[in-house]
Amino acid sequence: MKTIALPRFIDEAVLISTQDKKSVPFAIRRVFIIRNIKSKAIRGKHAHKKTKQALFCIQGSMKVKLSDGKKTVVHRLTKPNVGIFINQMTWSEMYDFSRDAIVLVFASDVYKNRDYIRDYQAFLRKAR
Ligand code: TYD
Repeated sequence: MKTIALPRFIDEAVLISTQDKKSVPFAIRRVFIIRNIKSKAIRGKHAHKKTKQALFCIQGSMKVKLSDGKKTVVHRLTKPNVGIFINQMTWSEMYDFSRDAIVLVFASDVYKNRDYIRDYQAFLRKAR
């Protein structure tokens, strides 16, 4: 499991930035935000065949569970500039969202439904 710390610039505000593979270890081709998340929601529950992602909880907090098919780790995200790298072929689940949670995800590829593995048993078969 690899965390990613984005540089913060603090004056009377806090500015968080990333560019050109300096902190996020891939070229960013897609960005998406998830908000208005029910605290009981479990999101994700899939893996990507090729796409790599960097996940940040830029407001509030959440947990993310990651598995490569052998090892499972749980990480709590509480800082807007400290996220987690989700490699390809990693099963991910996001849960325990605070009411105000806002999730920001950088992805290495455009959205392709065919890049998703949504069945856990199929993921395990492919990962092993
Ligand atoms: P989904 O990947 O299931 O969200 P999560 O990973 O949070 O569980 O996506 C939810 C919906 O949004 C689904 O209909 C596909 C669509 N979507 C896009 O069109 N583009 C995107 O970049 C993403 C991530 C999702």
